[in-house]
Amino acid sequence: MTQLRPGPDDVSYLIDDLRAADADHEFLAHAEQHLPRLHDLFTRLYGERPDGLERLASVLDLARTSWTARPRTLKALDRERESAPDWFENERMLGGVCYVDRYAGGLDGIRESIPYFRELGLTYLHLMPLFESPEGNSDGGYAVSSYRRVNPALGTMEQLAALATDLRRAGISLVVDFIFNHTSNEHEWARKAIAGEAGYEDFYLIFPDRELPDAYEQSTREIFPDDHPGTFVQLDDGRWIWATFYHFQWDLNYANPAVFEAMAGEMLFLANQGVEILRMDAVAFIWKKLGTTCESLPEAHLLLQAFNAVLRMGAPGLLFKSEAIVHPDEVVSYISPDECQISYNPLQMALTWEALATRDGRLLQQALERRHALPAGTAWVNYVRSHDDIGWTFADEDAAELGIDGYPHRRFLNDFYVGRAEGSFARGVPFQENPRTGDARVTGTTASLAGIEAGDAGGEDRVVLAHALALSTGGIPLLYLGDEVAQLNDYSYRERPEEAGDSRWVNRPFRSEQEHEDRTDADTPAARVFSRLSRLIDVRRSTPEFAGNDLIAFGANVASVVSFLRPGEGFSVLVLANVGDSAVEIDALTLSGMAPEALDLVSSQPVWLGAGLTLAAHGVRWLRVRMR
Ligand code: GLC
Repeated sequence: MTQLRPGPDDVSYLIDDLRAADADHEFLAHAEQHLPRLHDLFTRLYGERPDGLERLASVLDLARTSWTARPRTLKALDRERESAPDWFENERMLGGVCYVDRYAGGLDGIRESIPYFRELGLTYLHLMPLFESPEGNSDGGYAVSSYRRVNPALGTMEQLAALATDLRRAGISLVVDFIFNHTSNEHEWARKAIAGEAGYEDFYLIFPDRELPDAYEQSTREIFPDDHPGTFVQLDDGRWIWATFYHFQWDLNYANPAVFEAMAGEMLFLANQGVEILRMDAVAFIWKKLGTTCESLPEAHLLLQAFNAVLRMGAPGLLFKSEAIVHPDEVVSYISPDECQISYNPLQMALTWEALATRDGRLLQQALERRHALPAGTAWVNYVRSHDDIGWTFADEDAAELGIDGYPHRRFLNDFYVGRAEGSFARGVPFQENPRTGDARVTGTTASLAGIEAGDAGGEDRVVLAHALALSTGGIPLLYLGDEVAQLNDYSYRERPEEAGDSRWVNRPFRSEQEHEDRTDADTPAARVFSRLSRLIDVRRSTPEFAGNDLIAFGANVASVVSFLRPGEGFSVLVLANVGDSAVEIDALTLSGMAPEALDLVSSQPVWLGAGLTLAAHGVRWLRVRMR
């Protein structure tokens, strides 16, 4: 058997084969451009394996078959995206995320919600996992039993494809999760693997005894300690299997190229249903190596790049969004045009909450100064909160520079957001509190975390402030649908046995008809938050300075004020946000680098900066200024 080896020979023979087989000229062009890269990545990942080259050839074949089957409209979209690869970097991009069942009952309900999505201005819709998964607890669908079947309670794959078309016609790109670190224990591959069926034994990481699991656990982290200690769970037959998250989510073994091939097939299948962005779930965990944390290993990047190369051949218009909720240095390591073009920005998210709790904007300001820049052709996805918990992922070394000790600070933030600290306005709930390590995270809806549930006077302003930051720092703002009408925590999960053990359900409320009706009734929090956020969204959409990611930190000289400039043609937008509980003055000298005549974009009123500026408690201003 020929083995993979560095160098162009193996690739040229594969390309020659494509030519001889009269492959479609566009596919051939994609392969000529991306196959050498895929070959190189395969050599680095699987060069030692006798089946590496054979697998590479079948992956190429998969990409070709998938391209041939790709609907014409999607090929047209691919061409459009290839000619404007920065299509997602403009000021009109706005994301929304929701659970299909909780938000709309099913896929039909989502289709019926399109007019509302348009009213909001969405251009991107992330539907939470909607695939077939185990009954009862399925980690909110993050345990996938089939990537090709939609959970029958929500609809069918045909409906999903039709929805993707309808959304696209409405100017909205469909985003779904690609949960590729693990499958559910009910997936066909999982059943075959534990039955020892030929070809599947190596799809997962199964060990006969505790020897290797014990060795790995010397350096791995417990992710869901409420579910099981450590990284492995025991099978009925006494063996041990790798399960980073829940015991029913079994990690795939990417050291086996057959797993790569199988998952590349699932990815291309989803691409051909009309999905435009794949949210790459749990990217940090996909490669394991004894003696390491088994997180963010170099091979994890090679794998993502290899999946990326497959896409560029079979469905070139797609984007990858990285979900890496880890140290900020690691988060950015996944972001590049060749790997994941867009990424959650967990640092900005967490530090927005940190600033609101401490009433001190310096840590967030520092992050904007030094951790916001990204490579060309990529973008942040800025969110105020997700369906998950908030992990305090700031770098201890950054905090230390401001005299903050990371460990007690995280404890303070956890206490604050679950309402245990003095002066807390928050009504969050602890998630995965680990008494052994002192580790914990926090979960809650934006309105409940920001003080609306507790009746704090600043609650609504904080909701607006947090969104104003997500809408203005640069990238794709992502709204958790329901937050725009200030939906509160939903404690009903405690009555449902399959949810009671996972407090993240508290921040996944069902869509509230009442609050959506109230949004036009001026005297409710829903209406006030909705009208203020809608205004911000409208302003963002018509503010070209908000496109792209360029940001210049601006020192407002007030600890509670986060401030930066978004440069544009001739003008810049100055963003000022006061996380403090009292009004502050920005003095005239601080603002003297800009002409005194400015425009408040939100109120459309002129502003005179010559005598300084008052910023209200929890106030935000978006000012168009001319730099002198
Ligand atoms: C991601 C998801 C989370 C899920 C985990 C395991 O972090 O956001 O909800 O529990 O992956 O799939």
